[in-house]
Amino acid sequence: MGTERKTDPMHAGRTTSYLFGAILVSFLLLIPVLPPEEEGVLAAPPCRPTRSDMEGPFYVPEVPLRTSTGSGLVIRGRLLGAPDCRPLPGGWIEWWQTDRRGHYDDAHRGRQNVATDGAYRFVTDFPGVYPGRPPHIHFKAKAPGYRSLTTQLYMRGGEKEVEFDIVLVPERQGPQEKR
Ligand SMILES: [Fe+2]
Repeated sequence: MGTERKTDPMHAGRTTSYLFGAILVSFLLLIPVLPPEEEGVLAAPPCRPTRSDMEGPFYVPEVPLRTSTGSGLVIRGRLLGAPDCRPLPGGWIEWWQTDRRGHYDDAHRGRQNVATDGAYRFVTDFPGVYPGRPPHIHFKAKAPGYRSLTTQLYMRGGEKEVEFDIVLVPERQGPQEKR
C-alpha cells in the first residue's frame, strides 16, 4: 500500500544526494586552484638544514668575540632557520681552524653574534692543509629555539671570499615552532 510513497521519496532523495555530492566534489576539486599565493608557497624550495660534521679534537669553548683571525680570506653568510629560511637574530657562530702551516692555535678561534638579519662576516687566514683533509674551517652555531649545529666548511684552495649560509633545525617540530 505505501510502496509507491516509499519509493518516490527515496528515489528523489538519492537524486538530490548525488547532485549535492557532485557539486561538493567539484567545489573541493576547485579549491586548490583558487588561491594562487598558496600554490606559490607550496612550490617554494625547502630550506635545507646544513649537514652536521665532525667536531674533531681541537674545539675550545669560550673563545673571544672577533671579526678577524687573520687576513686574505673573507667568510660571510647568514644564520637561518629551517624550514622557511628565516633569519635568526639572537644566534651566534663560532669557528676554529689551523694557521697557514696547518697547526691549530688560539689565534684562529673566534665567535660572533649574528646581526638582526642573521648575517656574520669575518676575515681569516687561509687554513693550511694537514694529511688526509681538504682545507676546512670548523663551525658551531646556535640560536634560541633551534638546535645547535657542529659542521665544517670545505674549500678547494685559493679562495679569497666564501659565502656560507648556516641553516639550523627548530628544537620543536610542528605548530609550536612558529613564533
Ligand atoms: Fe680540522
